[in-house]
Amino acid sequence: MIKVFSDIEELSNFAAETFIEIGNAAIEKLGQFSVVLAGGSTPKSLYQLLAGENFKDKIDWKSVYFFFGDERNVLPDDKQSNFLMAGESLLKPLQITDNQIFRWQTELGDATAIAANYEKIIGRVFNLEVNPPATAGGSDIFPHFDLILLGMGADGHTASLFPETDALQETEKIAVANWVEKLQDFRLTMTFPTINNASNIIFLVSGAEKAKTLKQVLHGRFQPEIFPSQAVKPINGDLIWLIDEKAAQFLA
Ligand code: 6PG
Repeated sequence: MIKVFSDIEELSNFAAETFIEIGNAAIEKLGQFSVVLAGGSTPKSLYQLLAGENFKDKIDWKSVYFFFGDERNVLPDDKQSNFLMAGESLLKPLQITDNQIFRWQTELGDATAIAANYEKIIGRVFNLEVNPPATAGGSDIFPHFDLILLGMGADGHTASLFPETDALQETEKIAVANWVEKLQDFRLTMTFPTINNASNIIFLVSGAEKAKTLKQVLHGRFQPEIFPSQAVKPINGDLIWLIDEKAAQFLA
């Protein structure tokens, strides 16, 4: 489903309503709600809304468990950290307890070790046998998140799955360290098998600078090496694109 909004405020309000709806349904069905947060700047207004007067009482936050789709290779108190951004805009204002938050432990230093550690954390939470021998299909070794929030970069990346990077090919690991040549650094990211195993995926995309790429991603030839966001195709879940008018300007 693709929905276009006049601006980021309208987009974020709809996203907040959808977040609450999905969350309450998960709590009703499973007794808890596991959500993967997106980084970058677009989701910030959604997070602030969820922690604000209009939404903070609409879900039992004690039943919500927070994960991160990707992280920069920085310490958790670095201003570049996705964990820091979510902490300031959502987790701290809602007084979410540490045992409900599962972040990339970037203080471990080595990117590969950070990713392996995160895989183990997620594996424990979902009772998965991490790194089992590859099984056909693979979906029984990947977590089933109730909701994954994603952004899209102007180059078509999502999470930290950047064009022409090794992580795009990953079929067995839940989370990896991904060398990004243009950043000259590692990024930490969940993989497509993890993302595509979610029950619900919401893309939040705003800004004119994304319009050209968004047209390619949604209506162009399937070339996920160049436009990784095209590879987000939930196996048994729902995919929702929430887009503002500026980003949607070429989607005639
Ligand atoms: C990150 C995000 C990344 C982000 C896109 C869009 O770590 O930056 O996970 O995938 O969602 O780059 O970023 P903006 O929302 O800032 O445009």
